[in-house]
Amino acid sequence: MSQLIAPTASLDIQLAKEPLSSEERIKRMQNPGFGKIFTEYMVVISYNEETGWGRGTLKPYGPIMLDPAASVLHYGQAIFEGFKAYRQPDGHIKSFRPEANATRFNASARRLAMPEIPVELFVETADILIRQERDWVPSAIGESLYLRPLMIATEAGLGVKPAHDYLFILIASPSGAYFPQGVKPVTVWISENYVRAAPGGTGSAKCAGNYAASLIAQKEAKAEGCDQVVWLDSTHRRFIEEMGGMNIFFVYQEQGKTVVVTPILTGTLLPGITRLTLLELAKSMGFGAEERRISVDEWQSALQEGRMNEAFACGTAAVITPIGTVKSNHGEWLINHGNPGPVATQLRKALLDLQHGLAPDTQHWLHAVC
Ligand SMILES: Cc1ncc(COP(=O)(O)O)c(C=O)c1O
Repeated sequence: MSQLIAPTASLDIQLAKEPLSSEERIKRMQNPGFGKIFTEYMVVISYNEETGWGRGTLKPYGPIMLDPAASVLHYGQAIFEGFKAYRQPDGHIKSFRPEANATRFNASARRLAMPEIPVELFVETADILIRQERDWVPSAIGESLYLRPLMIATEAGLGVKPAHDYLFILIASPSGAYFPQGVKPVTVWISENYVRAAPGGTGSAKCAGNYAASLIAQKEAKAEGCDQVVWLDSTHRRFIEEMGGMNIFFVYQEQGKTVVVTPILTGTLLPGITRLTLLELAKSMGFGAEERRISVDEWQSALQEGRMNEAFACGTAAVITPIGTVKSNHGEWLINHGNPGPVATQLRKALLDLQHGLAPDTQHWLHAVC
C-alpha cells in the first residue's frame, strides 16, 4: 500500500510494517461480516490529567500493554463509538456524521468522569486512519469501513476514583452487507426479567458496562427462540425503550397519514444517530415523525386495530432491521405477516442511497475524507 499520509499537527506516523499484499487484502475482504477483520493500522492517543491530550500515533494494528491494576480492568471506565465510511460512485470516500459521534463520545465521557476529546481531533484522527486504509473501504451497497473509537482508563491503582490517565484508540473494520441474502425480519423477546438502564444511570452513554449487563437478556431471548431482546423502562416495565443495541420505530396510519414514531429520549435510551437521521429523513419523504412513549399494550392494540402496521429497529451496524414477530411471557404476535414493511424498506433504501452518494446529501451529513 502506498503511503498517502504525511505527519500532521496532532499525529506522528509510524508505518514501519510490511504492507499486506493486495491479493491477501482482497481475500480477507471477501464476506467480511461485521467486526471480524481489522485493517492494518490504528491510532492511539494518550491523555494525562496534567498534560492533557498528547501527540497521537498512527501505527500498525496490534495488542496494547496494560498494567493489571489499570483502572479500566477493575472499575470499568470504558466508552466507545461506531460510525462508517462509504465509498462514493466516483471512488472517493466519505464518512457519515462523524461530528455527531464525536459529540456523543464526549457526552459518554462526561457521564463516566472521563476527559473529553476535541471534536476536531476525533474527526481528524478518523480521516487520517481512513486515508491510510482507503483500499480497505468496500464499494458495494450496504458495505462500508466501520470505525471504532474507544477510550479506557489506564492509570494503575485500586482506589475507586476517576483515573488520571487514559488511552484513546481508533481501529477500523471492513463491514459487509448486514443482510447479504435480502432483508430478513427479526423475532424479538420482550424482557421482563432484566432492564438495560434506569433513571440517573448510564443508559444514554455508550459505555462498555451497559453492554456487559445486556448479555444475559440477549441470552434469554435466544433461549426463547428470538433474535433480539426488547428493553422496557425500569420504573413501570411497560414502556418500550430499545431493541438490543438498536433504537426502535413504529409505523402508524393516522387520519390517512403515515407517521413514524420512536420512543422519546428519557435519559435511559442511547440517542442513536441513525434514529435522529431517520426522524429527519422520514419528514423529508412526506411521513409524519414523532417522539413519544409507547407501551407494550399500545403496541399490541394498535396492531390489532390496524393503526400500526410496521415496526423496525435502526442503528449504524444494520441500518434498518424490520421486526416480524414479537414474543413475551404474555403471548406472541406477528407484524405485517412477518414480512418487511414498505416504510422500513423505503427508509432503508433512502438512507443507504444517501450514504453511498446515490442521492443528494441535502443535510450535509456526509464528510469528505479522500
Ligand atoms: C444501545 C444502543 N442503542 C442504539 C444504537 C444505535 O445508535 P446509532 O444509530 O448511533 O448507531 C446503538 C448503537 O450504537 C446502541 O448500542
